[in-house]
Amino acid sequence: NQFCKTDIGIGEVGCGILSPPSSTTKLLIKGGTVVNAHHQEFADVYVEDGIIVAVEPNLRELCYVRFFAELAESNAKWNKVGDDVKVIDATGKYVMPGGIDPHTHLAMEALNTESVDDFFSGQAAALAGGTTMHIDFVIPVNGSLTAGLEVYEEKAKKSCMDYGFHMVITKFDDIVSRDMEIMVKEKGINSFKFFLAYKGVLMVNDELLLEGLKRCKSLGALAMVHAENGDAVFEGQKRMIQLGITGPEGHALSRPPLLEGEATARAIRLAGFVNTPLYVVHVMSIDAMEEIARARKSGLLYLISSFLFYYWLSSTIYEFGNKDDVPFKAFIVTTRLLYVLLAVVPGSVANYFPKCVALLSSLLPSLAFIKTSRNLSYGTLNRVVKCTSTTRFYSRHIGQRVVGEPVVSGLVLDDSRLWDSDFTTASKYVMSPPIRASGHGKALQGALSNGVLQLVGTDHCVFNSTQKAFGIDDFRKIPNGVNGIEERMHLVWDTMVESGQISITDYVRVTSTEWIFNMYPRKGAIIPGSDADIIILNPHSTFEINARSHHSRTDTNVYEGRRGKGKVEVTIAGGRVVWENNELKVVPGSGKYIKMAPFSYLFSGLDRADASYLSSLNAPVNRFKSTT
Ligand code: URP
Ligand code: ZN
Ligand code: ZN
Ligand code: ZN
Repeated sequence: NQFCKTDIGIGEVGCGILSPPSSTTKLLIKGGTVVNAHHQEFADVYVEDGIIVAVEPNLRELCYVRFFAELAESNAKWNKVGDDVKVIDATGKYVMPGGIDPHTHLAMEALNTESVDDFFSGQAAALAGGTTMHIDFVIPVNGSLTAGLEVYEEKAKKSCMDYGFHMVITKFDDIVSRDMEIMVKEKGINSFKFFLAYKGVLMVNDELLLEGLKRCKSLGALAMVHAENGDAVFEGQKRMIQLGITGPEGHALSRPPLLEGEATARAIRLAGFVNTPLYVVHVMSIDAMEEIARARKSGLLYLISSFLFYYWLSSTIYEFGNKDDVPFKAFIVTTRLLYVLLAVVPGSVANYFPKCVALLSSLLPSLAFIKTSRNLSYGTLNRVVKCTSTTRFYSRHIGQRVVGEPVVSGLVLDDSRLWDSDFTTASKYVMSPPIRASGHGKALQGALSNGVLQLVGTDHCVFNSTQKAFGIDDFRKIPNGVNGIEERMHLVWDTMVESGQISITDYVRVTSTEWIFNMYPRKGAIIPGSDADIIILNPHSTFEINARSHHSRTDTNVYEGRRGKGKVEVTIAGGRVVWENNELKVVPGSGKYIKMAPFSYLFSGLDRADASYLSSLNAPVNRFKSTT
């Protein structure tokens, strides 16, 4: 094993020795291409005490580092790069914000067992793969949010990287309603997840979902759904067992894409009815993805706005061209007509319009940035970012505020191995919703590249082959979940960037920056003032995945044998180099809990939409009154 051993426990890391992180708190990353979600440039990055202090070209070694950009040139404070500064050469490589995995289940209890990666081993694996923060799901204890949070706070004490929490809601009453407020206002949780599947365990019905959606809206918290019709899945499972189909393939056959599409559509419509943003976790099928696409670009409005966009574009071209040139005029008129024709063919515009809008809206923040990049305080930048991300929101979401999260397994795997003759192999692919037939993954990749889906999670939830074997006679007893926390950054790079489906700035957006959980610009950015969670990716290097060399505690890997281009060579978490030369240096307890504020940009303008809904009702109060 060229890397370190997989069995990482508290106090033993990598090759069995706990190597403390390098003591230096000053880092200079030089010569690389710094990539943010809006912008990439050649620049050096200077880090001190866990915070990014400067991002500027030529902050060279032995030259001087200007610490405070806001100080005028004349009385600038200059500091020499001393011996206490660790210099990292990133020439020819990309320097990017560390990954943020929005969807993990570390040490999660399920089917009387617990997922084997806990908050230490799972995070160590994450760091080795370039992810520096994750958001895990707190499971309530007998419906109690506060009791659930206590359990997770305990589990997370051994953290070696920063983390945040989503909260699952399994019942609803006055106590839960009050606790949701406490979670949001005091505990830094800004999202709640509702399971529409796992009947009898976590599943909620429509009545509870509606109550939850209303409460989320009033608190400015994001409602998330696991979208599969749990009643129908239960029926599907009975059907498979009656047919004698007990193997892992029965898992996929019992819960087809149809049931994911149904629940996705239902959740979207109920969120639309309440008028609150919705986040659909682990979108695994074309069926669910298309419901999201439809909701985000509601019909006529979408066509009209896309026409206006084209009109603007063509008149701009026209301005630049020779107006008296008759063939040129004819060209413009013809393309406009063609555009109208295209617009009435359903689906045709959808293929390229989102890309145009994404391009246009990505220019806005860069322009704002260039204008103000000098003398920009952290607070100002925060405001610029809020304003531009709202602009992005309105240009990218023309319809309903629905966010779709694909997971790595859904993007790159297919269901074929569920039929493998070896149970250990077949069962390791069991997760919910199931990994789908080939074709779904490719469509999800397309949706991620054109903006229908927004950010990539993993749903990392690993059970070893002994635990998976609980279901050898009955697929219903196989604990659900696959790995991915260590592999996500590499697989998204190889599948999406290397193939040319997304740009490098988009890579940063979908793996880290997406503004949804309201941590930007503290997290997900390489700008002065941000946390120093940084990776250095070498696009010319290669990676290979296998269970022997991975850092997860589990003994299998659903990406076994995969190779690809692009390798995370260095991971810096909280200003400390934790992964370098294929070696992990992590310490349990060094990770911080990150509070997330409510009312993300997804909520901006909602109140106005509500007001116009009320005024549109046009129905008097108590129009008829009994006279007795
Ligand atoms: O199979 C899965 N996805 N296990 C984790 C729990 C969930 O549904 O997210
Ligand atoms: Zn810049
Ligand atoms: Zn789920
Ligand atoms: Zn999950």
